[in-house]
Amino acid sequence: MEIAVIGAGNVGGTLGKRWAKAGHEVAFGARDPADAKVSALVRESGPSARATSVPEAVRPAAVVVLTVPWDNAHEALSAAGDLRGQILIDATNPVPLTPEGLRQGLVIGHTTSGAEEIAR
Ligand SMILES: NC(=O)c1ccc[n+]([C@@H]2O[C@H](COP(=O)([O-])OP(=O)(O)OC[C@H]3O[C@@H](n4cnc5c(N)ncnc54)[C@H](OP(=O)(O)O)[C@@H]3O)[C@@H](O)[C@H]2O)c1
Repeated sequence: MEIAVIGAGNVGGTLGKRWAKAGHEVAFGARDPADAKVSALVRESGPSARATSVPEAVRPAAVVVLTVPWDNAHEALSAAGDLRGQILIDATNPVPLTPEGLRQGLVIGHTTSGAEEIAR
């Protein structure tokens, strides 16, 4: 199966590597596909993995997995474009970055949910 993983950090890197090793075609959609950390992840993931731009990763994918920080979700989904007809797995949590550089609290969650906002 062709899987696009948007975000090549802790969550996306772990999932993408496992799926690639299980034989799926995994494209990591990154802001900078040539970044050294992304290149290392692709090497570790094996021949079924590659890194590319977000729209290039998403285009052939049957399943798209969103694994970026909440503050970057809108930007990443805008870059991904129209996802109608594709399955989107949303791994994000609506956790903001505080001025101290910590991720804590919830941006939303009392009248709506992160998943509802991502679906919109
Ligand atoms: N569901 C769960 O159980 C669970 C558990 C832990 C975390 N999470 C959530 O999963 C998400 C990711 O967490 P994490 O720990 O993996 O974060 P992380 O290690 O900081 O990785 C985030 C990745 O997203 C990339 N990114 C940011 N903006 C992007 C964009 N516009 N386009 C493409 N890539 C972009 C970053 O790359 P660059 O900044 O280098 O471009 C980085 O590779 C968060 O929303 C977190 O709350 C969920």
